[in-house]
Amino acid sequence: MNRFVDKTGIRYFAFLLIILAGVSPCRALSIVTGPYLQNPSGTSMTVMWITDRKCTSWVEYGAGDSLDQRAFNSRHGLIDADQTIHRVTIEGLSPGKKYAYRICSKEILKFEPYKVAYGQTVAGDVHTFKTLCGNRESISFIVLNDIHERDDMFETLMKLAAADPYDLVFLNGDILGHIEDEPQIIDHVLRPCFEFFAREIPFVYVRGNHETRGKFARMLPDYVTTPGGRYYYSFDHGPVHFIVMDSGEDKDDTSKEYSGLADFDRYRDEQTMWLEREIRTKASRKAPFRIVLVHMPHRQSKDWHGIDDLYNKWRPLFNKGKIDLMISGHTHRYAVVEPEEKVHNYPVIIGGGPGVGEATVIRVNAEHGKLEVTMTRDDGEIVGRYESD
Ligand SMILES: [Fe+2]
Repeated sequence: MNRFVDKTGIRYFAFLLIILAGVSPCRALSIVTGPYLQNPSGTSMTVMWITDRKCTSWVEYGAGDSLDQRAFNSRHGLIDADQTIHRVTIEGLSPGKKYAYRICSKEILKFEPYKVAYGQTVAGDVHTFKTLCGNRESISFIVLNDIHERDDMFETLMKLAAADPYDLVFLNGDILGHIEDEPQIIDHVLRPCFEFFAREIPFVYVRGNHETRGKFARMLPDYVTTPGGRYYYSFDHGPVHFIVMDSGEDKDDTSKEYSGLADFDRYRDEQTMWLEREIRTKASRKAPFRIVLVHMPHRQSKDWHGIDDLYNKWRPLFNKGKIDLMISGHTHRYAVVEPEEKVHNYPVIIGGGPGVGEATVIRVNAEHGKLEVTMTRDDGEIVGRYESD
């Protein structure tokens, strides 16, 4: 009997210790992932990260190596607080300049109307970034697509890309298979990006059709930052005017797979109206190069409504806007499609993926008045090239 009580007592004590360890305020506040850089421009940079507990956050930064300034985010007069996803946009920066920064978060233990109790503060390591610059004559960027949560392939391709420097990374859709919850976004997008480049080089998310699927798909904008908070936008870097489009789903909105929750025809119409204005902007007309990134490549498929829809709606506008290059994915078969007169006056580079022997990383160098594209397969072999005249 005594032995039974002793054992039960020990078990109870151990259980209590486990519970206390789980809720103890002494448990260190930690950064789950990040920082990762988003939405770059010549004068601003957005820094994002995630903590394991609710915090208020800021970024310490400065030109060169200094950290003598502080940026934080506020909306409607209120500084962001009591959240785990942190987004701070540093503004007033100079184009083409290097800055040092580090992220800081302070835990909020109690949030009452007239008293907020703070807990621990955590700070990240010091990293650097460079703002974009319209005056630069040469830039380089890389493109990954259709990884479909193959973290091993993400690593392989990023290691191949690391052979030469690059300014930007485009995730050209279907990096995820569908979106169920936050850990999926962290494990297969944010953490690999942070690990390989995103603490110092921004990534640009181009949504693929698989990222429209799953119950958490509507939350994806909470984890990325884009101009205007949309999935279609334009921005400039060096000689390139980038146009990012969201091709939506591949099947008809009424398909049973979407359970009555898809509205992509109207969404593509909305983007058509935007694109009509976009190709007339000075930035688009005057740029030495115009490059489109869109997940689904346009062609007449006759089987896939979404692909046909963007082929009919956007292709005439891309021709009119004198697009120099389109980069896509989606088909899982890498290809270089040369311009075809009166159909598309620009080449279409299609990245492959996601399996071994099928996945690719695309590199574009825009320099000396030329575009040079190389597409490298996961085994290191170059399987596609394009050079502008
Ligand atoms: Fe796709």
